[in-house]
Amino acid sequence: METPKFRSIFTSASKQERIENFENYWLFTQAHNGEILEDDKDLINKRTRLKFFQDNPVQLRIPLPNPDMFYRNYVAIKDNPKTLDRTTLMLTGIYKFARHEWVGIKGAWDVVPNMANSKSIEDKISRVHLAEEFCHVRLFDEMLRTCGLDKVEWMPLSPFKEKVYEQFPKFPGFLMNAPAFVTELMGVTYYCHLNNLINELLVDEPEVQKRLIELLDEIIIDEVAHVGQRRNFIGPIGMRVSKWLVRPFYTMFFSDIPEVARLFDVKQMIKDGESFDFNYLPGYIIEKSWIPSYCKM
Ligand SMILES: [Fe+2]
Ligand SMILES: [Fe+2]
Repeated sequence: METPKFRSIFTSASKQERIENFENYWLFTQAHNGEILEDDKDLINKRTRLKFFQDNPVQLRIPLPNPDMFYRNYVAIKDNPKTLDRTTLMLTGIYKFARHEWVGIKGAWDVVPNMANSKSIEDKISRVHLAEEFCHVRLFDEMLRTCGLDKVEWMPLSPFKEKVYEQFPKFPGFLMNAPAFVTELMGVTYYCHLNNLINELLVDEPEVQKRLIELLDEIIIDEVAHVGQRRNFIGPIGMRVSKWLVRPFYTMFFSDIPEVARLFDVKQMIKDGESFDFNYLPGYIIEKSWIPSYCKM
């Protein structure tokens, strides 16, 4: 067995280490994303990458047998989930996960300071982070299009849930940081399990399989960096709270998306969250992503 290169994400860090890591992350995220295009909620490097995918589309060899089944169930499951095939469930599940992300960032975008009004490095990091999340929704949309689903609409959640998401970023840091970190961690867990499922379900569709993985990789590289970045906001007590929050958060969030329990081993996902340490991620993801210095051996 290879010697592990990274420590647990829950490893503690001093205040000084965290200050230095914010400075380092800020350099990373600028080089990684290029210029931010605030009017478009976009980033120049991500825009270029998405355009490459759009200009070089791939298609399923055999189109989805029943796209109506997707459209009937993607916003909310109407049929008995047991009657849906796993590929359709995977795609409606992707939409539901991405939709939560989209609602969350829509609420936050209007609340956090824009670049011109960002006073601290943390403010700037948070602004670029949100722009990245908008890019992810575009990448998810492209994943669905690649499967022939080009009539997807991004629907708001119920007014109550929309309100909850809008209030969240206004909470003070000591309340908001741990849940925000655990949410990023949950994203990485879900995307890693999704990666395996894409490989499994699209084995007879090599072009689309490869493309979906490429699109997902773009997201995973950012999300792995977000995990470290959001962890960097948190002191020792907050880290203990965060570890404790993994189980209830994952359970609550995933039970809201019925597809997840049908497709994935949620118990294993919780374990993966609680033991997360970057070691099991592929080298090419690690190389392009960012990891706090105190999580490196
Ligand atoms: Fe994201
Ligand atoms: Fe994220």
